[in-house]
Amino acid sequence: MVKAALIVKLNWFYSLELEQVDLYTAQSQATEDIYLSKTLARIAVIEQQHVDNIAGEIRRIGGEPTKLGDVIAPILGKTFGILTGALGPQMLLKADITLEEKAMKDYKDLILQAGDDPRLFKILWDNLIDEDLHTAWFANKLKELAKI
Ligand SMILES: [Fe+2]
Ligand SMILES: [Fe+2]
Repeated sequence: MVKAALIVKLNWFYSLELEQVDLYTAQSQATEDIYLSKTLARIAVIEQQHVDNIAGEIRRIGGEPTKLGDVIAPILGKTFGILTGALGPQMLLKADITLEEKAMKDYKDLILQAGDDPRLFKILWDNLIDEDLHTAWFANKLKELAKI
C-alpha cells in the first residue's frame, strides 16, 4: 500500500478510535445500569489504547496523527441521543454494535493489505480482536435486556 494512502487510512482509524473514547465515556456517565456503565468505561480505556497504538504506527511510518472531520456521524446516520443515553440502553447498544462492526470490517480490509509490515499487521489484529470482544459483549447485553 502506498505510504500516503496508508497514513490517510490510519488517520481514519485514529479519528474513529478517538471519537469512540469520547462516546463510550459519555455513555458510561449517562447510563444508570451500573454494569453497563462500568463496562463502557472499561471499553473506553481499551479504545484509548487503540488511539495510542494507531498514533504510534502513524508516526513510525512518517506521518502525523490527525483528527479528520466527524467520523461517527456518517456511520450512524443520526447521532442524536447516543451521547446522552436519551435513547435508552437498547438503542445505545445497537448504535455501538454498528460502530464496532464498521471498525471490524475496516480493520479486516486493512489487515489484508498490511501483510508486508509485521508490526502494523499485529497491531491491526490486536485491535480487531478487541472490537470483536466489545461487539460480543454488547450483543449479549442487548439479548439480556430484551428478556427483561
Ligand atoms: Fe477500537
Ligand atoms: Fe471497540
